[in-house]
Amino acid sequence: MKEENIYLKRLGSHHDELRWLYMELYDNDSMFAELCDRMRQFYLERSKDLKTSDQKRESDTGWYKRNDMLGMMFYIDNFAGDMKGVESKLDYIEECNVNYIHLMPFLDTPKGRSDGGYAVSDFRRVQKRLGSMEDLDSLTAACHKKGINVCMDFVMNHTSEEHEWAKKARQGDGEYMSRYFFFNNAEEPAMYEKTVPQVFPTTAPGNFTWLPDIGHYVMTTFYPYQWDLNYKNPRVFNEMMYNFLYLANRGIDIIRIDAVPYIWKELNTPCRNLLQVHTIIRMMRMISEIVCPGVLLLGEVVMEPEKVTPYFGSVEKPECHMLYNVTTMATTWHTVATRDVRLLKKQLDIVNALPKDYVFLNYLRCHDDIGWGLDYATLKMEGIEERTHKKYLNDYFQGYDGNSQSRGELYNADPVTGDARFCGTTASMCGVEKAGFEGDAAAMDRAVNLDLMLHAYMFMQSGIPVLYSGDEIGQVNDYTYKEDPDKAADSRYLHRGAMNWKLAENIQDTDTVEGKIFQGLKHLEQIRKTENVFVSNADTWTIETWDSSVLCIGRYYEGNKLIGLFNFSEYDKTAWIDEADGDYVELISGNRMKPVGVSIPAYGFFYLKKML
Ligand code: GLC
Repeated sequence: MKEENIYLKRLGSHHDELRWLYMELYDNDSMFAELCDRMRQFYLERSKDLKTSDQKRESDTGWYKRNDMLGMMFYIDNFAGDMKGVESKLDYIEECNVNYIHLMPFLDTPKGRSDGGYAVSDFRRVQKRLGSMEDLDSLTAACHKKGINVCMDFVMNHTSEEHEWAKKARQGDGEYMSRYFFFNNAEEPAMYEKTVPQVFPTTAPGNFTWLPDIGHYVMTTFYPYQWDLNYKNPRVFNEMMYNFLYLANRGIDIIRIDAVPYIWKELNTPCRNLLQVHTIIRMMRMISEIVCPGVLLLGEVVMEPEKVTPYFGSVEKPECHMLYNVTTMATTWHTVATRDVRLLKKQLDIVNALPKDYVFLNYLRCHDDIGWGLDYATLKMEGIEERTHKKYLNDYFQGYDGNSQSRGELYNADPVTGDARFCGTTASMCGVEKAGFEGDAAAMDRAVNLDLMLHAYMFMQSGIPVLYSGDEIGQVNDYTYKEDPDKAADSRYLHRGAMNWKLAENIQDTDTVEGKIFQGLKHLEQIRKTENVFVSNADTWTIETWDSSVLCIGRYYEGNKLIGLFNFSEYDKTAWIDEADGDYVELISGNRMKPVGVSIPAYGFFYLKKML
């Protein structure tokens, strides 16, 4: 098919719905015409290679659901200094079996008022110290040669106060003020505050910031220097879509839409998850399917499960391709603290009952804090109260509890609600930091086993596992952020430390912690990518083990069956399962084993594959 015809065909299949939604939101013909015009331009500007990859992916829409998908996220400077540095480390990334890298925010952002790069001052410029747009082009091309996908953040809810629009708005230019939420009185902000919860109750209380120089309040849901964009203004939507397409044309494969639920605001509502957000994401999905259908949308929706899944949209009207499995992540750590898998089993049952086409990103931790968003209604039936349980978990992971080996810090402890979230690396939360500090070899073995067991369990979930760079060598918390005045107030920097390449030299030496974790993970990664039961849309279910510390997950795909057993306690346990349907082999050890009454060592796990 001729290029132009390909475009027209894609446009044809979405135009009417796109126009309908656009008109519903904006009722503005000329702005819609402009959008269509610019989409075509971005298509024409898209490189030949990217267009070829688009077409390939269009004819293989499940390409990202395969069992070889493994992600890793990192800040460019922490990982390798700059973009060129990342390019020079692609062999290491391959050695980690990673074929999807999430480059944490790298666009222009003011130093010291950046929120880790989530306050963007120019959507078309790379931070100087990290490189340039040309370096990004070169990095994405180098990644594509190796079959590595590149993900970046698209921070569309807000801009930095130093973005060109914000600067003009601050000078009183009405056109630009209308791209944000400005109020010349205290009453309206106060009315919003009645229904809008706070994101950073301690580090950035309130949802508005007073700008004395122009005598206005501006809406700032996150930090005071992150000004919320007003998507009621079609100029904002159009321009942000152009930015999105510009970045997609740099060779980005996965666009992580930051803070999705927040992008539409309405007085007398919580300003989260409003219907218009779905209209916007649906339009964005169509725009990408028209211009760059090889690009995936990953929605950042850190909320309870019933609020997350609507962002997948429906079969006919899909929104995001992928979403974070955030409740499962938080419930995993609850299970580590309590050694009781019941809530986790229930959570996995909920996820497993969802349509198999939904793709979740599974992770043990990310660059953000861990919020204790658990199913408290269920815990309540056990007599566990939300407030005391959150306190228990925070105490536990700070290492205050007798049987805790964890180290870490609180995040945004709210003196009013008593609420707090938690920061720490996977290894520190598993006990690697404490055991290392105390020089306790037995405790170190336990910590490493727990760390590996958690990864093995995470790999058993349906979807795409994502590692945080450094976790593959068991890196511990980095307390140096406290010495940097730009970071000291934000404890999330505790688990955003720089990659320790010195320690990474040990990855081949299994007498070291780094070697044990790296090689342990490598084995799991290789199993995962060779066994097709790990495809994202395999049947997945849990099995009762009659031991409250042992979790059992089953997977089945095209005749292959795998049973995973995971012991969340520091004691040897027996899983009272009875899957007597043939012979099994344990994939880590290669031993024959029957999934009937299986004894599992402390913090151990098994991958039992049914023999054909
Ligand atoms: C997302 C990011 C977080 C950031 C926030 C505001 O939640 O993950 O790091 O603080 O958005 O942009």
